[in-house]
Amino acid sequence: MADYKEILRKNNQEHILKYIDMANDKQREELVKEIENIDFNELSELYKISNRDKNKALESQLIEHVKFVDKYKMDKNDYKKYELTGEEIIKNGEYAVVTMAGGQGTRLGHNGPKGTFLLNVNPKPKYLFEILADNIKSANKKYGVTLNWYIMTSTENDQKTEEFFEKHNYFDYPKEKIKFFRQGNLPLISEEGKLLIDEDFHIKYAADGNGCIYKSMRLDGILDDMKKNNIKWIFIGAVDNALLNMVDPILLGLTVCENNQIGSKSVVKRSPEEPVGVFCKKDGKPGVIEYTELPTEMAHETDEEGELLFGESHIMCNLYSIDALDKISKENLPYHSAHKKAAYIDEDGKVIKPTKPNAYKYEAFIFDGFAYFDNISILRGRRNEDFAPVKNAEGNDSPATAIELYNNYWNV
Ligand code: UTP
Repeated sequence: MADYKEILRKNNQEHILKYIDMANDKQREELVKEIENIDFNELSELYKISNRDKNKALESQLIEHVKFVDKYKMDKNDYKKYELTGEEIIKNGEYAVVTMAGGQGTRLGHNGPKGTFLLNVNPKPKYLFEILADNIKSANKKYGVTLNWYIMTSTENDQKTEEFFEKHNYFDYPKEKIKFFRQGNLPLISEEGKLLIDEDFHIKYAADGNGCIYKSMRLDGILDDMKKNNIKWIFIGAVDNALLNMVDPILLGLTVCENNQIGSKSVVKRSPEEPVGVFCKKDGKPGVIEYTELPTEMAHETDEEGELLFGESHIMCNLYSIDALDKISKENLPYHSAHKKAAYIDEDGKVIKPTKPNAYKYEAFIFDGFAYFDNISILRGRRNEDFAPVKNAEGNDSPATAIELYNNYWNV
């Protein structure tokens, strides 16, 4: 008993003792176990970044624009070469697809995992997961393969996600070719650096960001599974893009022919103000600047042809060699903090639902994995073919805009 008290005292978390007193036996046992498992050194490092001025961090870096290849403006012979190269790898069964589905989908506000959101497309409504399944199934048919499909969930949504697939008979995708794995999570910290406790007397945790996918793939045996299946190239994409093209031989062929280990699809930014991250080079290494970090002046900068210099949006449409994933999975990606509203119970046991942000959440970002390479192949696609995001409940990037893009693309 003394141990956890000592841990809490040493780490300025003595307020937890009050909750331990309030909890019932089972809750107390679980809470103590959680305390014993927390890495308090990591936690104090995380808390230090809570108020970091992101723009200051950027000032010390050399930011340059990055080259890309336009899918529809390239030389015909190159197009053919990339297509043949990519198709051969896919047909050989050396290609797999990963879906990141561990996010909370806070902006959309759907009750359940985001992939279970029903999009009212023509000719019949489809769930986001169903759209992805259909997309891979049609690639399977085209290339005469059955691609391995890996789906990343989080502690918050793994059970619901797997039950959903079971209930919908895996959307007729061969069940043995689908593998779920779970990302990790990290405690939320209050503005005063204190751990928060939820209604069930557990430490309040949240998913550790899509950048933790690399580590989770290693820890959960997904990389080993890929190696066992002779998979050489892996596509990682988001769950919430109704036009996500997960099997594009041109992106694959381009990356292979440019001798790169990583590749990504971009679309042109709608306007300098569009809230998307854009590709760049940071101190000579490929990366993405978040829209919140891109200085207004740079956001408006153009080249001789009037195109935005920082105009290639990162649309979570990424490609990696197995060696690249192996390499990134051994690195510690930086964490970023976000100021969020987080419900908790106060020291009198009362549930507090804050109306303004009260806690810091820490996340790693998938694109920070690019910095471990000298180059990335970027293929510029088209918004109306590649990008129909479902982010917000209304307005831009909402179900309404995604439905329109989907129906137009499929001509339905
Ligand atoms: P977003 O960053 O848009 O987050 O995720 P979100 O959870 O979908 O939505 P908001 O920000 O809460 O409104 C982009 C992709 O990364 C995945 C999401 O599921 C989505 O496919 N993601 C995000 C994870 O898999 N894990 C995370 O921890 C965060």
